[in-house]
Formats: sequence, structure tokens, C-alpha cells
Amino acid sequence: MNAIPPTNSPIVSAFVTHTPGSAAAYAEAREHFPGGVTHDTRYVRPHPIAVARAASARKWDVDGNEYVDYAGGHGALILGHAHPEVTARVAEQLAKGTHYGANHALENRWAELIKSMVPSAEMIRFTNSGTEATLMALRVARAATGRSKLLRLRGHFHGWHDHMAFGVTNHFDGTPTPGILEGLSENVLLIDPNDEEGLAALMAAEGETIAAAILEPTGSTYGQVPLRDSFVHALREATARHGIVLVFDEVVTGFRVAKGGAQEVLGIRPDLTTLAKILAGGLPGGAVVGRRDLLELLDPERAAARGVEKIPHQGTYNANPLSAAAGIATLEILRDTDAIARTHAYAAALRGAMNQVLVEMSVPWAVYGRHTGIHIFTNWKNLPITPSTFDPLAMGYADLKVPRGLQTVTKLLLAMRTHGVDFSPWPGGPVSAAHGPAEMEATVAAFRKAIGDLRAEGEIA
Ligand SMILES: Cc1ncc(COP(=O)(O)O)c(C=O)c1O
Repeated sequence: MNAIPPTNSPIVSAFVTHTPGSAAAYAEAREHFPGGVTHDTRYVRPHPIAVARAASARKWDVDGNEYVDYAGGHGALILGHAHPEVTARVAEQLAKGTHYGANHALENRWAELIKSMVPSAEMIRFTNSGTEATLMALRVARAATGRSKLLRLRGHFHGWHDHMAFGVTNHFDGTPTPGILEGLSENVLLIDPNDEEGLAALMAAEGETIAAAILEPTGSTYGQVPLRDSFVHALREATARHGIVLVFDEVVTGFRVAKGGAQEVLGIRPDLTTLAKILAGGLPGGAVVGRRDLLELLDPERAAARGVEKIPHQGTYNANPLSAAAGIATLEILRDTDAIARTHAYAAALRGAMNQVLVEMSVPWAVYGRHTGIHIFTNWKNLPITPSTFDPLAMGYADLKVPRGLQTVTKLLLAMRTHGVDFSPWPGGPVSAAHGPAEMEATVAAFRKAIGDLRAEGEIA
């Protein structure tokens, strides 16, 4: 959680003066919502911004302040806000009905597109969210293998259901977070990302008891803690050898790292893949895709033919026509244009330009990432680094994941907002295909000013 910075901070004062409408909206929100937010990552003190509208790579708060947006709808909006084609297709569908309680043509079209883009997608089951997708993938794996244990990587996020709710930002020893049953974590085996020796030892000891291994295939939080390709290949090899279902959680990487997700780039065929975010074009939606023989466990006839009980699965809004329309419009654009390549090019150029600011201002931080990710390493342990010598692969999740509430990061986020840029709280953000030269210029200028502000109040030496 991002803590309350001292009130004598000029950065905080400037932000408060700049955003009176957001402050008032937050005061009301605190009466309605625990912490005044409806998603933990939106929590920041003194208050989050309250947004009134958004278009392309920009958004405007209730005071009329404009921001270059790097929240990106928590990663769902690779085409930017209110993309005209996506909006038109959703509006067209809205007039035809939002829910038929029945099969419809758009779900078939959506599934065809996914199959044509994601290499391992033999069959598909739609869900409402990424959380539901990982929940179902792991259930399928347990049903298929008859085993109970799950292998996860520390720091990797797969939604907030019980088996995933610890070891992400804390409780790295596997102890349960509040509300999670004590015994549950006995069935969850956590290892460090990139620890091939630990993986080998665990496989030797537990390989035959593990139902599924699940991971974010380029590393947690959009690659903030990058994974070595060799580690992911080792995991594929070990899981295949021990009959473990390998689940690529591509809720973030799907349609972002490449048209076919991280699996296309890595050349690895997972057994199951979970998708959400970009999948549904900015509306709610998710999916489990993968091996036909595994997903057939949801099919009443195929399960019966195999002499097993079918896995039950419902969900009022699964593959609803509005999400399908937005998803189809988005995936078609990603399939038929260079939109993904443009996001990668923008992100690389922005990382370079921000690092240039750090060099010019002699700040021992680094901006790094791959694909569409921007990660600002604020060097809270004062390591002797420069942007050019910094190697995130040489570091562990404990160094790369900034503890929430670190004052410098909170002030960086607030200063950037005052100067017209809304970063995600990692700190950093995904970029969209709508970001262009004007956004680049505005972001770099805001970063330069924010660094100056932080230095002026002693947060940077
Ligand atoms: C990698 C990953 N998996 C799963 C989820 C959960 O998806 P949702 O928020 O749609 O439940 C997220 C959400 O941020 C995610 O980043």
C-alpha cells in the first residue's frame, strides 16, 4: 500500500492543490468503499485521481487536468482508450442486446480468432476474468491428474482466489493471508523465479504429486522481475517429464508480447493458457485455452465417454456479446496491423529517453523492461548502479519488487501526476499503440520535473 507521505512535502502539497475535485471524490469514496478504492493497486494517499473521461493515450480528471495514461486499464487497453473501432462494434452490439442467455455467433468468431493467434489453443472456455480463468485452469489440472499440489513462482500474480492469494507481494513463505485456510498452503509449493536448482530439487522430491505449475511466462508484473527463457524451458521439460500440467498465465502477456503471446516468442507449448485483459478489448472477460483432452473434462459427453465426472462450470457473463464484440474488434486490429510492434518500439524509446534523463541528472536509478513494459527501478537499497550497468536478471524478486508504501515511490507517482502523467504504481506502466511522439515528449518532461522535485526534498541524493 502506498503510505501517507509527510504533509510538509511540497510534492504532496502541489498534488493536493492541483486535484481538489479528486480529493472531494475520494472523501466520498471512503464512505462507500474500504480504503476508498475498488482495487487494491488504486490505493494511494493522500488520494487517487478521480477520472472523468479518457481517449486514446490520455485521460482527464474531474478538475479537467490532462494525463498521459500508463495505467492502460490495468493492462487491458493495448489500443488505448475508446478506440473508435472497438467503441463502434460495442455500440452496435449494445443495440442488439447485451445478453441472450444462449449461444451466439460472436462467441464462435471470438474463439476462432483466439485459435488463429494463440498457438496452443485447441479448445476454449470463456470466463469473466483472469482470476476465474486461473481458478478453472488449476481445477482442470487437478481433475486431469488426480493430484493436489500446485507449483507457483514467488511474486507471480494469478488473481485473488484462495490458492493464489499469498506469496505475491508478501507471505513469501507460503503462510496464508487473512481469510485463507491454514492448511491450504500445504498444497502450494513456492519456488524462486529463475531458480533452476530449486526446481530440479523440488521435482525430484515432489514431481509425482504436483498437478499443475503456473507462471507469468515473461516474469511477474509485466516482466518487472524478468524470467530467463532457459528457466521457462527447464520448467516445460520438467513438467512434461513428471506429467504436470503446465499453465502459462498469459493474462498480461497474451496479445501483448506477440500476437500469440509469450508462448509464441518462447517457442513453448503450454498445456493450458489463461487469458483476460486484452482478450476482451477493455470489457470484462477471460478464457482458459489449451489441450483438447484437458478441456474436454468440461464436456458432459466426452467426460462420460472417459468414465469421469464432468467439471461443473457456470458464469452469468461468460462470453457475453458485448465483451465478445470488444474482444473481436481488438484482436482483429492486433492480428491485422503493426499495433503490437508499435507498442514495443514506443516502450523501448521511452525507456531510453527516461534513462537519458537519469544519466543527465546523475540519478542512480534505471528504467528497464521488455516488450511493452516500463519499469522504474528506484534503487531503494542504494546499490551502485547506472542505467547502462543495471541488469535485472542478476537480481531477485525481493530487490526488484518495490515494497508498497515506500515514500520515494509514492512521491514519484504524485509528482508525475501533478506534471500530467499517470503511471501504474509498480512504478511504471504498460504502453499502448495510441502512445506517440507527443506522449513521449510529455512523459519525459514530466519525469525530468518529478526527479527535480524529489531531489529538492531530499528523496534523491
Ligand atoms: C498475470 C495475471 N493473472 C491473472 C490476473 C487476474 O485477472 P483479473 O483481474 O481479470 O481477475 C491478473 C490481473 O492483473 C494478472 O496480471
